[in-house]
Formats: sequence, structure tokens, C-alpha cells
Amino acid sequence: MTADVTAAKSVSLQEARQLCDAPPPFPFGWFAVALCHELRAGAVLTRQFMDREIVIYRTESGTACAVEAYCPHLGAHLGHGGEVCGEELRCPFHGFRFSVQGSCVYSPSGAPPPAARLGLLEVRETHGAIFVWHGPAGQVPWEIDPLVDESDWRRVQHTVRHVHSHPQELIENNIDIAHLGTLHELRNAQLVEPPIFDGPRMRVDYTYTQPTPWTSGVDITMRLRMDGLGVLVDEVDILGFSMRFIGLATPVGERDTIQHLLVSVRKRGRSPVGKAFWCGVEKVFGLLVMRGLADQVKLDESVWINKKYLRRPAIAEGDGPIHAYRRWASQFYPEGAAW
Ligand code: FES
Ligand SMILES: [Fe+2]
Repeated sequence: MTADVTAAKSVSLQEARQLCDAPPPFPFGWFAVALCHELRAGAVLTRQFMDREIVIYRTESGTACAVEAYCPHLGAHLGHGGEVCGEELRCPFHGFRFSVQGSCVYSPSGAPPPAARLGLLEVRETHGAIFVWHGPAGQVPWEIDPLVDESDWRRVQHTVRHVHSHPQELIENNIDIAHLGTLHELRNAQLVEPPIFDGPRMRVDYTYTQPTPWTSGVDITMRLRMDGLGVLVDEVDILGFSMRFIGLATPVGERDTIQHLLVSVRKRGRSPVGKAFWCGVEKVFGLLVMRGLADQVKLDESVWINKKYLRRPAIAEGDGPIHAYRRWASQFYPEGAAW
């Protein structure tokens, strides 16, 4: 009996601590579930999304779809044996087929029951990725801004990481200007001007001096744009190259996030020889930049994995607009969510 009480007490203490360890776990917004090229025509994939698994598939004509994992007939998991048949998804258990609108269009055992409807999720394809909407049913209040001049950029690097953190904390890392000096050893980090908050979007530019072994340092300006908490686009000019970083963060558990990092370089070279030359140079440069980025992220991870989310942090004057950022971020949670 005593042991049970002790066990119950320690669980509740642990739960109480976890409440403060991160903002509410599953914010509303658009979140990436795959890169476009991972989902070829006819493919069916299972993805962890928030607190559950979902199934994504692409029809033969190229439409990307996302559905709740379990068949409404008798509960088979559509990611385990589900098949694309033309424009329909076929369940492996009894062969019901579902249209891209979610309705059952064929049943081998009689007329399709009207209640047999797949749980459909909203899907968008942009930024080279497939995004699924998480939010109250039937409401998609905003879209991801398309990338400007996408065809002018060459994707040169991509990594995917499992991070023991929360998307809100990953973005806050860009607002927390003070840590750039202490943790990352970047000099003179400062905002160019206060961040611009525009509904679900936020923009912020900051500068810093990157120490190098061969000069007193290179001045760098980062231009960041966020679409909710799941999409971050960062453009920067480094040593004559225009780079674009895309960070896509998707919650897959209470304090677990899958993060895709994509690096693109603005294309150069007009002649075929020039294009081939610059393509090679950009790939090497992209590789070096990605390595540098990975080293910096490792420093952050060493903090993220152990840190605690403080609802009322003791912010100093030069810390950056953390309070303003958190007020903006609060729109992505259900009203009244405790955090
Ligand atoms: S469980 Fe899917 S068709 Fe029966
Ligand atoms: Fe950082």
C-alpha cells in the first residue's frame, strides 16, 4: 500500500514537472510530414503526427492525401498493407476502397455503408514538403506563404533530426539573441529592428559577426520568416553566396520533434559550363555550411535536452523580444490551454 502511494506520488510529481517543461504539446498550424520526393505516385506511408499515427499517400495522378490511420469499417491500419488503386485507397482487411474525399466508393460485401468515411486531413505541398494541418476540425484559418522565386534556388543539402524539444522552443532559439554570444560564440548579435508580427506570421532580422580563423570576423545578417511554429525560412548572404535555410518542425510526442533542415543556394551561371561549374561549387559550399550549422545545433541540443520551460522567465533588457514572441506563439494553442 505504502509502495503504491509512493509510486502515485512520484508519478504526479513527474507530471507536474513536465507541465512546465514545454508549452502545450501540440500547437495548431501546418506541419511537415514528408518531403515531396518521398511520396511517389502510388506510395502509402505511415507518419507519427502529434499524438498519433496518420497515413499519407499519393494517387496515381499525383494528388497527395493524408488520412487518419484506421479504417472506419473494422479498424485496420491503412499504413500496413493499404494500397493505392488509381485514385483510391484500398484497405487490406476487407478491400473497401476510399476516394480522395474520404467516402467509401466500393465494398466487396454490398453497398458501401455511408458511415464508412475516412478521417481526412488537410494537405498542402510547398517548400519541397508535404504539410498537414493540425487544428480544430473543419477550420483552416491560414495558409503557408509560398516561397519567392523558388526556381532560382538549388537545393543542396537536407538532414532530418529527432529533437528532444518543442517547435516553439526551437523558434525561440532565434529570438533569444543573448545566447548567440554565450553559447555559439558569435559577436555583436543584435536585432536589426523589432520583429514584425502579422497574424500567424512573424519576421525578424538580426546581425552578428562570425569569427573566422583568417579575418577579424564576417558580418552576417539573418532574415527570418516564420509561418506558425512549423515553418521557418531564413535567408542569408555568406561570402558572396545567397543561402536559404528551411527548418520544418513537427511534434511527434509531448516533447519530441522531427526537424527537417533544407539548405538551398541561389543559382548562378548562365552558360552550360558556367552552370555545371557553379552547381559543383554550390554543392560543396552547401555541405560546408550544413556542417557548420550542425555543429551550432549540437550546442543548442546540449541545452534543449536538459532545459525546463519557464512560463515566467526572468528576462533581462538585452535578451531579445522573448515575451513578445511568446504572446504571438500563444495564438497556436487552444484558448485557455495551461502553460
Ligand atoms: S477494416 Fe478496412 S475494409 Fe474492413
Ligand atoms: Fe542557438
